[in-house]
Amino acid sequence: MRKLTYFIACSIDGFIGDPEGDASYMYPFVDEELLGHLTSEYPETIPTHGRRQLGIDDLPNKRFDTIVQGRASYDLALKEGITSPYAHLREYVASRTLGESPDPNVEIVADDLAGRVRALKAEDSAYDIYLCGGAQIAGALADEIDELVIKTYPVVQRSGMPMFASAFSPTEFTLESLRGFGNGVVVRTYGRKH
Ligand SMILES: NC(=O)c1ccc[n+]([C@@H]2O[C@H](COP(=O)([O-])OP(=O)(O)OC[C@H]3O[C@@H](n4cnc5c(N)ncnc54)[C@H](OP(=O)(O)O)[C@@H]3O)[C@@H](O)[C@H]2O)c1
Repeated sequence: MRKLTYFIACSIDGFIGDPEGDASYMYPFVDEELLGHLTSEYPETIPTHGRRQLGIDDLPNKRFDTIVQGRASYDLALKEGITSPYAHLREYVASRTLGESPDPNVEIVADDLAGRVRALKAEDSAYDIYLCGGAQIAGALADEIDELVIKTYPVVQRSGMPMFASAFSPTEFTLESLRGFGNGVVVRTYGRKH
């Protein structure tokens, strides 16, 4: 069984963006050292257009071959005229309103999202599944998440969009790795405790 990994950037107090979800204030923390880590360990989590700008669009996938994201997160790319923001991955977008997919590489999942993700997890593949967010889809898929990779930026927001939009349900995870960066960013990996 391959893993569903919620790979996410957040503030010290656990918010993934401002109250509307805008996370753009976090971008400057992706400095040379952190970008080096991301490109060497998780190159596929960088969107296709960003990879092109960085000149790394031919880097092979390392951890993931599939991405799952919510329609609101996908909208950010659509607004820029980009219909396949992660063209180097198989792309799944959860949406009950989008209807037909705007791109042949993107499959829309309208019904039984958790069941579709369980089927993806059951596929025979050496690669895991990247759960990109945002809060709503992470809440909807919380029971399916096997691993968390949390990039914590050294900022307290006080309010904002939470990591999970879902009911209170404490779930234990085990710390598997931790790395600090010169600019105060900490990247932690947790595995779900079974
Ligand atoms: N900090 C980070 O690393 C990070 C990463 C990703 C995203 N974000 C931020 O997160 C924000 C978006 O988060 P969000 O919580 O508003 O939205 P979201 O989770 O990206 O998308 C929500 C949408 O997904 C669809 N959806 C959710 N559950 C579903 C289900 N069970 N079945 C079918 N469709 C389902 C619905 O689409 P329909 O309304 O079309 O039905 C829903 O409106 C963005 O602003 C982005 O900046 C931050």
